[in-house]
Amino acid sequence: MKIPFSPPYIDDDVKREVLESLDSGWITSGPKVLALEKLVAQQVGINHVACCNSATSGLMLLLHWYGVTRGDEVIIPAYTYAATALVVMHLGATPVLVDSGADFNIDVNKIRDKITSKTKAIMPVDIAGWPCDYKQISTLVNEPEVKSRFNPATKNQQQVGRILILADAAHSIGAHYHNKPIGTWADFTVFSFHAVKNVTTAEGGAMCVTLPPPFNNEEVYKTLKLWSLNGQTKDALAKTNGAGWKYDIVYPGFKMNMPDLGAAIGLAQLKKISNPYFTRAKESV
Ligand SMILES: Cc1ncc(COP(=O)(O)O)c(C=O)c1O
Repeated sequence: MKIPFSPPYIDDDVKREVLESLDSGWITSGPKVLALEKLVAQQVGINHVACCNSATSGLMLLLHWYGVTRGDEVIIPAYTYAATALVVMHLGATPVLVDSGADFNIDVNKIRDKITSKTKAIMPVDIAGWPCDYKQISTLVNEPEVKSRFNPATKNQQQVGRILILADAAHSIGAHYHNKPIGTWADFTVFSFHAVKNVTTAEGGAMCVTLPPPFNNEEVYKTLKLWSLNGQTKDALAKTNGAGWKYDIVYPGFKMNMPDLGAAIGLAQLKKISNPYFTRAKESV
């Protein structure tokens, strides 16, 4: 028997949505990306989701937002895809591996021994869509003794005041943990929309922004969008729509934006997901 490796779900609705993009004459970041961000946010039951061109990009951008740099350490599970470690290494920091437990996810009991004064973040990975024990991870990073060892080096680190929880949820859009969707449990959660994932944009990712107070998640969302487009104050759509040609580069950003053509695929697919945990989350917002 031949079992195909996760072929993308392409039906007439997907084709229609993509054709709409092509016919509109607008194929890069624009209305479809904004619509996809809104739909992911709605389904997860949160207010701020920023799309980008891959989960890898999103994870790296968020570690950069947290000021993770040379000399820092980030705790990750030993069992994951290479990108979880590579994003840490690309920022000059050191990935610190923790063994996985019987469920193939990071063994939270083994995290404590790996925390040092250099630890800036933990990146739990929901392997194959099975959520990590976020309650236990959150309890651990909020323990007074663990917090006292945290060495903030940037304003954002000072404001969080502890090890950041950045969920690598590349596999787990639509999953839930204790009756709440993945996307609501960490400081940030990143989904992957790579071609083999259960929802795809061909290549793409989504960053769920759910920082605790006093952070302004709307401001953080705007910062992430700006940084994912070379730090450019006006995107091509705004320029096309009469906002004028002139723009500023206000930050040495990255080129990580998602094109509308990809977003159109994800949008049509996500509209079809009927998930009771999504609905429940929406009701409780
Ligand atoms: C656990 C994990 N993290 C990150 C990624 C990276 O996702 P992307 O291909 O969207 O960059 C993947 C991709 O399969 C993954 O499995």
